[in-house]
Amino acid sequence: MSMTYYTLGNSGLRVSRLALGTMTFGTEWGWGADRETARAMFDAFVGAGGNFFDTADLYTGGTAETWLGEFIAERGLRDKAVIATKFTFNSEPGNPNGGGNGRKNIMRAVDASLKRLGTDYIDLYLMHVWDRLTPAEEVLRTLDDLVRAGKVRHVGLSDVPAWYAGRAQAIAELRGYEPVSALQLEYSLAERTIEHEFVPLATRHGAGIMVWSPLASGLLSGKYRPTQAGNAGRLDGFRNTTHPGFQKFSDRNWAIVAELEKVAAEVGRSMAQVALNWVTTQPGVATVILGATKLAQLQDNLGALDFSIAPELRKRLDSVSSAPAPFPHSYFGPEIQVRVAGGTVTGDKPSGYSLPVLVEGEAVSISSN
Ligand SMILES: NC(=O)c1ccc[n+]([C@@H]2O[C@H](COP(=O)([O-])OP(=O)(O)OC[C@H]3O[C@@H](n4cnc5c(N)ncnc54)[C@H](OP(=O)(O)O)[C@@H]3O)[C@@H](O)[C@H]2O)c1
Repeated sequence: MSMTYYTLGNSGLRVSRLALGTMTFGTEWGWGADRETARAMFDAFVGAGGNFFDTADLYTGGTAETWLGEFIAERGLRDKAVIATKFTFNSEPGNPNGGGNGRKNIMRAVDASLKRLGTDYIDLYLMHVWDRLTPAEEVLRTLDDLVRAGKVRHVGLSDVPAWYAGRAQAIAELRGYEPVSALQLEYSLAERTIEHEFVPLATRHGAGIMVWSPLASGLLSGKYRPTQAGNAGRLDGFRNTTHPGFQKFSDRNWAIVAELEKVAAEVGRSMAQVALNWVTTQPGVATVILGATKLAQLQDNLGALDFSIAPELRKRLDSVSSAPAPFPHSYFGPEIQVRVAGGTVTGDKPSGYSLPVLVEGEAVSISSN
């Protein structure tokens, strides 16, 4: 395949449209890859033209960052590689400031990540998850300090409420801090909630969406079946847990898997490739982070952009995976807008503007009118 690149948000940083996730680098969590396999996946990704790597300080207890740094250094790729890593989770049980989004933890975490990665700068530094407490002002000011100190090039947010991300971007703009260039969020045919708030926020206010769990932790590869309680992969290990990222076995999702299987057969591609192609070509998506535990999986996934899904097939995927718009988005449809504009044509702008378009009963899509 020939990899293509987008600039991330409003920044000038060029990132490959497929990124390599490293949450599966290391076996500490019981479902990752050993070093040899991780190395082979790294090589395959680089061989396919990928330059964007996603990791986090505490993935697999620090192994993910350490191996990523070593693989990059061994091949002399530091100038080419774009490294994204994250802070928030607690590194020291019993120490309330060993995690969180306060300045004290960010300053500790960045130095620990730099050490494990074996580098003196991080290309994209993200807050991993909202801690419900720390003001956006403190986070943005601290991240801006890190940019000015040369330890970080660009900044981003992952797993935050949309109001927080919007406020953070406004603070950055008004105070002259480094703006938020990326929003890292779960997005797939099985999880489309971000379309209502985050996609319009990202496309209007200069952040690129970095998609995580594009295969819903493997569900969309088609290897899980409703009737089967076997050992297909990661999700089996979470069957009796309440972890919010891994509750994927629902009637709605089985219907999506069934339609995806039919569409993939018509396209002549694997289900994983079609699911990845769909999400990579959705509005606002800058990059999709691939996850894999085996080289064959990654090789399959790297073929996700070598084809396009015909509009009628895409429509079937859109339709089976759409959910009714939640309030207040349910209130922005044509019958309300016509009353806003007094019966004249609504929402018109000159060409080139991006506006969220609401289709009754469907999720938000973005079009340029
Ligand atoms: N910011 C966040 O909160 C957050 C959260 C989660 C992930 N992430 C990032 O996003 C990356 C990707 O997330 P993810 O691993 O959840 O992605 P995913 O694509 O939804 O799931 C990847 C898993 O699906 C299975 N799989 C992948 N390709 C396959 C194929 N072609 N055929 C069959 N099975 C296949 C493998 O699991 P098994 O082999 O175990 O079945 C693989 O580990 C992570 O590495 C991490 O960098 C970020």
